[in-house]
Amino acid sequence: MGNIENKLKTADSAIHDWYRFVLSFPPHLVQQYLDEFGACNSSLVLDPFCGTGTTNVECKKQGIPSWGIEANPMTYFASKTKCKWTADTSEFVTIADHIARSANQSISELKELRTLSEEQSELILKNSISPKPLSDTLVLRDAICSANSRFQDYYLLALAKHIVYSYSNLKFGPEVGISRTKKDCVNVVEIWLSEVQKMYRDLATFSEYAETEADITLGDARNISVSDHLKKVDCVITSPPYPNEKDYSRTTRLESVILGFIKNKDELREIKKGFIRSNTKNVYRSDEDAQYVCNIASINRLSDEIEQKRLDLGKTSGFEKLYASVVKLYFGGMAKHLIQLKPYLRDGASLAYVVGDQASYFQIPIRTSKLLGEVAERIGGYRVERIDTFRKRFATATETWLNEDVLVLKYKEQSHGEIR
Ligand SMILES: C[S@@+](CC[C@H](N)C(=O)[O-])C[C@H]1O[C@@H](n2cnc3c(N)ncnc32)[C@H](O)[C@@H]1O
Repeated sequence: MGNIENKLKTADSAIHDWYRFVLSFPPHLVQQYLDEFGACNSSLVLDPFCGTGTTNVECKKQGIPSWGIEANPMTYFASKTKCKWTADTSEFVTIADHIARSANQSISELKELRTLSEEQSELILKNSISPKPLSDTLVLRDAICSANSRFQDYYLLALAKHIVYSYSNLKFGPEVGISRTKKDCVNVVEIWLSEVQKMYRDLATFSEYAETEADITLGDARNISVSDHLKKVDCVITSPPYPNEKDYSRTTRLESVILGFIKNKDELREIKKGFIRSNTKNVYRSDEDAQYVCNIASINRLSDEIEQKRLDLGKTSGFEKLYASVVKLYFGGMAKHLIQLKPYLRDGASLAYVVGDQASYFQIPIRTSKLLGEVAERIGGYRVERIDTFRKRFATATETWLNEDVLVLKYKEQSHGEIR
């Protein structure tokens, strides 16, 4: 048993590291709530905002079946691939070697550098990636796709990881920006090949734990329509967006464009419309989620307070004018999600929502977990068990502590009501 446990501990960092480990929530937190909720191999765990799949990978490590929902096609692809622990790894490296040789050959024969189309270039941050690494990446991407192998998803995921961390000029802190030092010369193919070899070692080590189901759905957690999930969900462990002006499509934009998940502005808009409204760059005339919280006084008060502060400060930009409504849209979207979730939950299901307090709108504190708990109870069926503070950060501008909390809920089946 000790040996298996050791292997699985290593899987923790290895598989999470396949794509954007640093942006996800900590695996130990998932572990803690799996234990507390008594999840086992006959349970079903759901992460409705699964991102890069931390919850699902943790479940798989322990033989617990899980389900994930994710609205961003790039992170959906990443979590889906991270949860595929194929046992058939023969030729994994041989095919990759062949692809690497073919890509190197094409790179050496190129007469002029490959570029993105004008439409694609407009979607990414200016100077996200220097011309030569971009050209080599495009050649390698095409070599991976034309090999059409059964390992294609793993190869593309390895490429996505290094587009972000090794080839690009991006920096994260926590918003995405462009570094002053540009990477003009990178050995794109060699870096990719060594990542593929690392993946191979991970897969070879853990393939014996491959059977546990980890089903990832591309979709909107406010609009769940999965008919084949006949088994009810025993626990939910998730970290949804917070009302913090973070644009999830922007943090994954470069690799989404290069891998073809976003081809033009219309596609980008459609993807963003599938996200919970947590920032003012993602608000549309047709948005109706605010109606789900229109009777909740604390959210109306918060929204009014933000609008009053805007007027007092004389702020008039288009984005600032949206601050008051994005807060209602955020909690309304989360309310819609919780309503939609009910038919999928087992009576007595336990839920953990990791959310952070925010002060992004004129520094007015938004106590996210407290408000979300109130929303859940007003919907009916949910009871707030408690709020655990998982970490705190001091906001110097307002001299207040902002908590990152875990809102723990219990679900008790009743008629599928709306907000009372
Ligand atoms: C805080 S991140 C989750 C991080 C995740 N725990 C991980 O391990 O990477 C929130 C995720 O919710 C996704 N998201 C936003 N709105 C969504 C929606 N309506 N339905 C499903 N996923 C959504 C975002 O794309 C993002 O990946």
